[in-house]
Formats: sequence, C-alpha cells, structure tokens
Amino acid sequence: MIDIRKLAARALLAMSFAAAAHGVSAQTYPSRPVTWIVPFAAGGPTDALARAIAERVARELGQPIVIDNAPGAGGTVGAAKASRAVPDGYTMLVGHMGYMGAAPALYKKLAYDPVKDFAPVFRFPDTPLVLMVRKEHPAKDIKALVDFGKANPDKLFISNAGVGSSSHLIAALFAASAGIRISQVPYKGAGPALIDVIGGQVDGIFDQTNTALPQIKEAKVRALAVTSKVRLPQLKDVPTLGETVLPGFEASTWYGIYSPKGTPQAVLDKVQQAYLKVMSDKTFTDRLAEQAIQMLPAEQYTGAALGKHTEAEVARWRAVAAKANIALD
Ligand code: MLT
Repeated sequence: MIDIRKLAARALLAMSFAAAAHGVSAQTYPSRPVTWIVPFAAGGPTDALARAIAERVARELGQPIVIDNAPGAGGTVGAAKASRAVPDGYTMLVGHMGYMGAAPALYKKLAYDPVKDFAPVFRFPDTPLVLMVRKEHPAKDIKALVDFGKANPDKLFISNAGVGSSSHLIAALFAASAGIRISQVPYKGAGPALIDVIGGQVDGIFDQTNTALPQIKEAKVRALAVTSKVRLPQLKDVPTLGETVLPGFEASTWYGIYSPKGTPQAVLDKVQQAYLKVMSDKTFTDRLAEQAIQMLPAEQYTGAALGKHTEAEVARWRAVAAKANIALD
C-alpha cells in the first residue's frame, strides 16, 4: 500500500532539491525583487494590467515586482528573452494570446515554444476590445465603417501593437469576417498605436478596454463596436460586433504569467497562491471590473488551467490563422 505521508515527504524533498539546483529556496523565495517581462511598450493595456496585478502580488510575496518592458515583433522579442532567463522564479513573463497562443502559427522561426519552454503560473482575467476611430473619420457607426472598407480597399489604416498582438489578430479576423481589406500599421505597443489614432495619423484601432475607456470618456476617439458577446455596462450605447455586422463574432485578450521551464514547482505554487489570494479580494476585482475586465471562474486562474488553455490556443490559432489567412504583413 502507498504511504501518503512518505509520498508527500519524498515530493517535498524532490522539490527542495530542484529548487536548490537553481540556488533558490522555496521557503525563503522571494528574497530579492522579482522581474516580470512585459513585451510591449509602457502605457498600453498589457503594461497597465500587469502593473495593477504585480503591485498586489508583490505585497503578498513581500518583495517588489519590477516591470521590464521589452517590446518588439508583437511580443515575441520579450517572450524569447524570458524563455532564456534563469528558471529560479526571479524572471517571469507576462504572456498573452498573441505570442503565447498565435505566434507558432504566424512565425516560421520562433525562438521559443510557448508550451515546452515555459511553466504556466497563473491566468489573469480577460479583456475585451473596443474598435475605435479617430474623431474626424467619416464613419459614424460600425456599419458605415464596414461600408467604407468595402468601397476603399486598403484605405482603412488600423494601428496595432505589432504582428501577432491581439490588436493585430482581432483586426485581421474582423477584416476577414467582414470581407474587407484593411491596412494594418504596427507599433511597439497599443499605447503608441492609440496615441496615433487620437492624433489622427491612422484611422482606428482595436484596443483593450482598460486603456480604451478613458480615451472614449474624454471623447478623444469614437467607439464604434465592442468585441465582447454582450454590451459592456461602461459603454451601453456601443453595440457588439456580433449584434451588428458580424453575427457570432466574439473575441477578447487572455493573459497569464509564465516562468521559464525548470522553475521549481514550490516557487510556482507560492506565486500562484499569492495571486489567488489577491483575486479573492473583491475590492481589487471590482476595480478591474470597472475597466470592463472580465473575471473568470476561480479554477481558471490556476497554472494548471493556464497550461491547458495555452495548448488549446496554440492548436486553435493554427486553424484560425490558416482560415482567416493571417500572415506576417
Ligand atoms: C499592448 O499592451 O500593447 C497590447 O496588449 C498589445 C496587444 O494589442 O495585444
């Protein structure tokens, strides 16, 4: 008969050996600041959400979490950097649907494998996107924008956060589903990409709600549609794409924290526990919900659930990218 206590003791011993191999003790981790790599420019939705969560997780862990913005190639530059980091829990990646889900389908040569090179730690809540245009654009509603796109192939200039970012992927899906040809304009993050919509240098953008809502509120851009299944309480007058031009269309950006493969399990567990505690604080989740960030059932926040989700998304995007003909521009 298996003695559960012996089994647990052996597992604990194995964990502390693994941790010791990287010079890290799970008991004292973290004993110095931790770095989270955000592979987009500061001021964008990934940066904003990561900082909000990092601040709270850091409080639980008792050490600061430093955000390292490492933009480039739709997040794949930062993800590659994270995959090469020492797997000791002191460098982790803020991953998202693009470079951790779609990238293997888009990039012929990817310097990392989202599944094989990383250990999933925990999943963030999801963020829907808003399709917005510059204030002077002639399209006053979503139908008019699609009509404009049909009448003017390649003349609708949509900015994005780089090839394979969610703003790029969702704009490509939108264009393919609506049967229009748009011109995508890549930036190093949705932050600078949105600034150029406000400035009128480009026509529009699909941006995530946490950074889109303040600009819409101040009337610096015009919101035409949201990508969520139902309308957002913060934008009651803005229709969903599904109820207007694209029945059944629904999309949002998913995120998660990943650590380089080989990080001791006890360290991953400690960080996950800290996060789950943060997400059980209703004051905090209410603050995120005010930005139209969509909470998930608690069991979906775990590292195990993020691992399954990542594998499913890598497979899904291979099919989606081929069908919608999304390729590197
Ligand atoms: C960003 O922070 O720049 C965005 O999350 C990128 C994106 O559109 O996916």
